[in-house]
Amino acid sequence: MSLLIAGSIATDHLMSFGGRFADSLVVDQLDKLSVSFLVDDLEVRRGGCAANICFGLGSLGLNPVLVGAVGEDFADYRAWLERHNVDCDSVHVSETRHTARFVCTSDTSMAQIASFYPGAMSESREIELKPIADRVGAPDYVLIGPDDPEGMLRHTDECRQRGYRFVADPSQQLAFGDGDLIRQLVDGAHILFSNEYEASLITQKTGWSEQEVLDRVGTWVVTLGAAGVKILGNGAETITVPALSEVVAIEPTGVGDAFRAGFLAALAWGLDHRLAAELGCLLAAHVVEKVGTQEYTLSRDKFLVRCEEAYGAETAAAIAPHLHTLH
Ligand SMILES: Nc1ncnc2c1ncn2[C@@H]1O[C@H](COP(=O)(O)OP(=O)(O)OP(=O)(O)O)[C@@H](O)[C@H]1O
Ligand SMILES: [Mg+2]
Repeated sequence: MSLLIAGSIATDHLMSFGGRFADSLVVDQLDKLSVSFLVDDLEVRRGGCAANICFGLGSLGLNPVLVGAVGEDFADYRAWLERHNVDCDSVHVSETRHTARFVCTSDTSMAQIASFYPGAMSESREIELKPIADRVGAPDYVLIGPDDPEGMLRHTDECRQRGYRFVADPSQQLAFGDGDLIRQLVDGAHILFSNEYEASLITQKTGWSEQEVLDRVGTWVVTLGAAGVKILGNGAETITVPALSEVVAIEPTGVGDAFRAGFLAALAWGLDHRLAAELGCLLAAHVVEKVGTQEYTLSRDKFLVRCEEAYGAETAAAIAPHLHTLH
């Protein structure tokens, strides 16, 4: 059995400018705009939703299969992910485009000038899941995260056709997608993931009520930021789990992805939804405490102590036997 995680694979190039952009812009000359900012700092960070989720699963000792498209510049990133137990053998490598890249410069007033280059990501629509399943074994779950919309649709359709259980995680693409796209990505999912804002986008854009969404998915997991998570099931009682409280939030990017990794790891281990949400919150806390989405390392003892402090000895005891690869 296997876990297939499809979605974006990208790097973020983040620069900081020591002045204010506004001081360099001449409003009545904007049609001739040409400015260059001398920046103090460049940080290159590994990211992309599918890669972040795989990193989390790999850190917990699973062997997720990354499904997505990259460029030939992926070599270093591949090595990093493989060192963290991620199977990258089915990643599609474009012959002509670079790996997706987010380039952003921020100034001292937190204004940003940013560009996102999807690049090779648009080739994820060329990926078929069947040969991957043949290689690694029938999927327990296929997660379909934000990616090239055509690719997301293709993967979702293939899951429906072949009867693979799929997890819909459209997140960022909800802002761009229309109702028709979103309905197709969500309908028939075993689990739907979203945050609270995205939950409203889903009902608003699909025209489905909360109950109508639940009629089409098995379970809807809605993350609530620092307030934790609620799990809605069709006809089932809503489960709520608080987030960790002893958390110094440094930077939130990637918390949602880490939550998903923890949640899916627990399901793969056969644990129930409450335990899955607790493990998700625990892993997410590690990300919010660090700058960057793949910068945390898990130590078995510390992880279990924190788990027990947050959720009690029973949760720690349920998780402990599965953390045998952690040191
Ligand atoms: N300040 C915080 N303190 C503790 N845990 C947090 C905090 N913020 C987020 N989390 C954890 O992360 C989970 C996901 O957070 P959130 O709902 O903000 O996801 P998101 O909006 O999808 O984030 P992103 O898309 O930026 O990764 C929460 O359910 C919670 O467990
Ligand atoms: Mg999110």
